Amino acid sequence: MDKRSFLKGVGMMGLAAPLTFLQVEQAVAGIGKAAPADVASNQDFWSKIRGDYTLKPDYINLENGYYCFMPKQLLEQTVEHLRVINNEASYYMRTVQWENKNKAAQKVAEIVGCSGDEVVITRNTTESLDTIIGGIRWNAGDEAVMAEQDYGAMLNHFRYVASRYGTVNRLVSIPNHPKDDDELVDLYAAAITDKTRLLMVCHMVNITGQVLPVRKITDMAHARGVEVMVDGAHAYSHVDFKMADLDCDYYGTSLHKWLSAPLGTGMLYVKKEKIGGVWPLLAERDLEPNDIHRLNHTGTNPVYTDLGILNAIEYQNAIGMERKEARLKYLQHYWTSQLRGLPRIMVNTPVEMSRHGGIGNVGIDGIEPADLAKKLFDEYQIFTVAIDRPGVRGLRITPNVYTTTKELDALVEAIKKIST
Ligand SMILES: Cc1ncc(COP(=O)(O)O)c(C=O)c1O
Repeated sequence: MDKRSFLKGVGMMGLAAPLTFLQVEQAVAGIGKAAPADVASNQDFWSKIRGDYTLKPDYINLENGYYCFMPKQLLEQTVEHLRVINNEASYYMRTVQWENKNKAAQKVAEIVGCSGDEVVITRNTTESLDTIIGGIRWNAGDEAVMAEQDYGAMLNHFRYVASRYGTVNRLVSIPNHPKDDDELVDLYAAAITDKTRLLMVCHMVNITGQVLPVRKITDMAHARGVEVMVDGAHAYSHVDFKMADLDCDYYGTSLHKWLSAPLGTGMLYVKKEKIGGVWPLLAERDLEPNDIHRLNHTGTNPVYTDLGILNAIEYQNAIGMERKEARLKYLQHYWTSQLRGLPRIMVNTPVEMSRHGGIGNVGIDGIEPADLAKKLFDEYQIFTVAIDRPGVRGLRITPNVYTTTKELDALVEAIKKIST
């Protein structure tokens, strides 16, 4: 092989031909032109997708929110990328490493319709959002707005910034059942002062699954000169949206959550004109001020995951984002609708379809969340996670597309039994 074709071969690693996902393709062929909302309850369709997953027989996994583990083919492909790069070694790193990482960023950007040069691949949401929180040029007295129900790692970084720079954090508390969007917008608006620089808002609150009206909150904040950073850990590849719909300044997510990309993959979006205003936490060489790579010096890292991201996107495209969102919502609605309103049972997630995705939270009055989670696991072999946070006490239930209604029936029966 001559040098040029060898280089080309390396450059195409993992990218050569679109992959085929037989089970998914057969399932999609079988449904013809059926609307996503109708496919959502088609057990035959989703059981084919379930066939792509290796599931543990020991318990029902209703805690996909931490990590939506990869279907079999994606795992095999990722292991193969690791093998090949281990063999190519420094050659890969010195030739196509960056080209492939940029391709991954480009494809991740395409899902939400933004430009590839506004996106970088990170390890996770924490790295993405903390890059912004730590990279803003804070002055003493500057203020930031966030919610008590936001993720701990970000709240911790805001606290750290406050003690380092003398900034002030103002926390709102998100109601689990808002009466309308205005209630939420007003809540955030009331926390803004003329010193506020940044507002952080969850796209989907991870502990309840509530989807917040981000665009309305962004418009309100922008009108008052405040930048908006969105925590999209649970929304990306879960609800179908475009970055332009949100008009936020910064957005971070974890690709190992709802995209089912390999562990340790995330993305940071920064609106083009905002890139130059953020200091990098790890210094890059001199780049143009508005080059987003300034913010993304990662040193040597496990780059085979970049190729795994591309495969995960192909898999998701094969299912179809609209079908995936519809399925996740259907599953949430399936079990929550059987438990809402029953004595002692509290569903801590809004009922309106536009205010949730696949995540729901349920508690039982008088039972500690941790005890409930333990009981469900020990006695019913159902794995969930206990949430004990301001205003939210219960179990977070996160099915994934492969979850069956039979598994959710087991959850419903167990919660009913425990509550009585
Ligand atoms: C809302 C939210 N933000 C941030 C994170 C952090 O994600 P990661 O640990 O992948 O960085 C999570 C994790 O569950 C989350 O739920």
